[in-house]
Amino acid sequence: MVNAADSAVEVIDLAKNYGPVRALRSINLTVESGQYYALLGPSGGGKTTLLRLIGGFIKPSGGRILLHGHDVNGLAPNHRPTTMVFQSFALFPHMSVEKNIAYGLKLQRLPKSEIREKTGAMLELVGLAGYNSRMPHELSGGQQQRVQLARSLVLESDILLLDEPLASLDAKLRKEMCLELKRIQEKVGITFIHVTHNQEEAMTVADRIAIIAGGDLIEEGTPRDIYERPVERFTAEFIGENSLLDGRVASANGDRVSVDLGFAKIEAPAGNISPAAGAAVTLSVRSELLRLIVPGGELGGAMQTIPATYVEEIYLGLTTSHLVTLPNGDEMAVRHLSEGQSAHFHPGQDIRIGWHMVDARLHRTQTE
Ligand SMILES: Nc1ncnc2c1ncn2[C@@H]1O[C@H](COP(=O)(O)OP(=O)(O)O)[C@@H](O)[C@H]1O
Ligand SMILES: [Mg+2]
Repeated sequence: MVNAADSAVEVIDLAKNYGPVRALRSINLTVESGQYYALLGPSGGGKTTLLRLIGGFIKPSGGRILLHGHDVNGLAPNHRPTTMVFQSFALFPHMSVEKNIAYGLKLQRLPKSEIREKTGAMLELVGLAGYNSRMPHELSGGQQQRVQLARSLVLESDILLLDEPLASLDAKLRKEMCLELKRIQEKVGITFIHVTHNQEEAMTVADRIAIIAGGDLIEEGTPRDIYERPVERFTAEFIGENSLLDGRVASANGDRVSVDLGFAKIEAPAGNISPAAGAAVTLSVRSELLRLIVPGGELGGAMQTIPATYVEEIYLGLTTSHLVTLPNGDEMAVRHLSEGQSAHFHPGQDIRIGWHMVDARLHRTQTE
């Protein structure tokens, strides 16, 4: 039934209002069959709304949804090729693991032998073979999560919709389950759409990520695109640890732009936006690509530098964050491997912050 070349989900100009609340404005999105797709963004951005529209639990205010090429407008959830794993999806506490997983199949009136066979295969898949007669309270949080997943996967839909499936787990368990989810998805080969507000979770599981905020799809791409080459200022601010500098284009010269930050002028690659002179722009540099330079320190040819005052260092284990203030009062964080930076700085010291020109990215400033 799953054709590798087709689109599992195609969302066209999709909008949803709850009364006066515009939860989604006009979303366009394609998820290919067999992809692990993450919807990532801050709380209240519209992720759950988008997932529920795809699953058919709520009706759109405008636009269309195609699942495997078929318009599903008006189709009830159980007539769609989707299964929803709800945010607060709890197991039935009075039923064994096996009965919990078999529940949906019983509703479909499958023969007992088939139910037993499918349930056993699912327990194996999620790493809980032999746990058939355990009760939910006899399982750890991670094991309960696996049973929930088995209960959804056993229904054999083409598209699994997961709404913050790991939100209730602690950080260590969440990491483990992320890898487990990805392994299971690769094994079953169906499409997963996974909603999360946690960027590390999205980057771990997903083939592609859509950033959803304020009812809009801000941008989408592979985890590497989103992390290393964000186009929008919002993404640069939301993903990773980027330092942002607002300024105005002093002059544009082909693929290079000169940006006036008010207290310094720097050069940047024009990137995707190629702004004209006078345009308000934001420059971002990943914090781990910034350098701290003491006066008289050595400068590479293509280094861009700005003056700063050292504030303090915050030891974070693997990395250390060095806080500085800029002449305009803005704070900036420079993050290095804890052993990487041998020089010592003291609060109030005048230093310079530097980066290779090619490591800076230019974004449109959103107020325009
Ligand atoms: N049933 C509802 N009635 C009214 N407003 C809602 C309802 N569900 C969600 N909203 C609003 O729609 C917006 C998007 O919510 P949601 O889709 O839950 O975002 P997310 O999952 O990204 O946190 C929020 O402003 C939220 O308050
Ligand atoms: Mg939500």
